[in-house]
Amino acid sequence: MTILVTGGAGFIGSNFVFYELKSHPDDRIVCLDKLTYAGNLETLAPVMNQPNFRFVKGDICDRDLLDWLFQEEHPDVVVHFAAESHVDRSIEDPDIFLRTNILGTAALLDACRTHGIARFHQVSTDEVYGDLPLDRPDLLFTEETPIHASSPYSSSKASADLIVMAYHRTFGLPVTVSRCSNNYGPYQFPEKLIPLMIANALADKPLPVYGEGLNVRDWLYVEDHCKAIDLIIRQGKVGEVYNIGGHNEMRNIDIVRLICQALGKPESLITHVTDRKGHDLRYAIDPAKIHRELGWLPETSFRDGIRQTIQWYLDNKPWWEHIVNGEYQAYYEKMYGARETLKG
Ligand code: NAD
Ligand code: DAU
Repeated sequence: MTILVTGGAGFIGSNFVFYELKSHPDDRIVCLDKLTYAGNLETLAPVMNQPNFRFVKGDICDRDLLDWLFQEEHPDVVVHFAAESHVDRSIEDPDIFLRTNILGTAALLDACRTHGIARFHQVSTDEVYGDLPLDRPDLLFTEETPIHASSPYSSSKASADLIVMAYHRTFGLPVTVSRCSNNYGPYQFPEKLIPLMIANALADKPLPVYGEGLNVRDWLYVEDHCKAIDLIIRQGKVGEVYNIGGHNEMRNIDIVRLICQALGKPESLITHVTDRKGHDLRYAIDPAKIHRELGWLPETSFRDGIRQTIQWYLDNKPWWEHIVNGEYQAYYEKMYGARETLKG
C-alpha cells in the first residue's frame, strides 16, 4: 500500500518514515513536507534514494498541489503529522498555527474526499484535553475527557480533530485520531524541553526552566508512538480516537536535573525564568483503550529512552549544531532574552 506521510521531515514524522520503511518494506512511503524551520531534509538523507520512498516539498494548504499529488500517487492511507507544533511559538504568533493546523487539515480531508482514501489518520495531542491539577494524581485523560484546550497551538489541534470527526460523521470519511503525550528521542528540534536542555548543558549555557519547574508531562519514547500509529492505521477501528501514553509522568525540574547528572554538568546552570503564559500544569494519559483493543504497550522505559536520546545528541552534534547556529539563534534571543530570571 501507499502511505502519504505529511510532515515527515519533522521529529515524529521522520521517525515514523524510518519505522515504516523498516517494518513494512513492501509499502511505498510518500512524504509531503513544506520544510519549515522544523523540517530538515538532512534527517531523511538515509532513505532519500530508496525506491519505495518519495519526498515532495509542498504545503498541505496548497489544494492544487494536493490534487496533483493524489492523482499521481493514489495514496491508500494518509498519516497526517504536518503541523506547527511548538506551544511557545503559538503564544508569540498564533496565525500560522491556525492556517497550517486547521486549514491545512481541512485541505487534506477535502483531497481525501475527492480522490478516495482507505484511511485518514490524524496525529493529535493530549493537549486538546487541557490540563489536570497537580494534586490529583488519580485523574487521567481518557478518550471521553472533554476537549478543553488552553493555548493557540492546542486549540488549533483541537479544531482540526473536530473537523476530522465531522468529515467522518457527515461524509463517511474513514478516519482515526490518536492523541499522544510528550514525545522524546532522536531528531527532535532543540526548541523543545529535552533537546534544548541537552544542547545548552553541553555548551555550559543557562538551562531556562519556566517558573518553578513543577509542571508535569507524561513522556513517551518516539518509536513507541510510531508503533502505536502503525497499529492504528492497520488494525484500528474507523471513527475511533485512541489515547497514547506510557504512564511516565515527570516534573520538568526533575528532567533537567537528570540531564545535568547524565552529562556531568552542575545544577547551578539551572535558571528559573518567567513562566509560559497559560502554562498547562499536568498532562497524564490513560492508554487503557489502545492496550485493550490493539494490544499496544510502550516498549522503551524512560531510563533507557533518555539514555539513548542523550547519547544520540552526543553522537549527532552536526545535525543539531546546524540548527542551533542558524536562524534559531534569533528565535532564542527573542524568546529567552526577554524572560526575566526568577530569584530563589
Ligand atoms: P515538528 O515541528 O518536529 O515537525 C513538523 C513538520 O511538519 C516539519 O517537518 C514541518 O516542515 C512540517 N510542516 C509544517 N507546516 C507544514 C505545511 N503547511 N505543509 C507541509 N508540511 C508542514 O513536529 P513533531 O513534534 O514531529 O509533531 C508532529 C505531529 O505530532 C504534530 O501534528 C504534533 O501536533 C503531534 N504531536 C507531537 C507531540 C510531541 O511531543 N512532539 C506529541 C503528540 C502529538
Ligand atoms: O503533550 C504533547 C505536546 O508536547 C505536543 O503536542 C507538542 O507538539 C509538544 O511541543 C509538547 O508540548 P509541551 O509544551 O509540553 O513541550 P515543550 O518541550 O515545549 O515543554 C515541556 C515542558 O517544559 C513544559 O511544561 C514547558 C517546559 N519548558 C519548556 C521549554 C522549551 C521549560 O521549562 N523551559 C523551556 O525552555
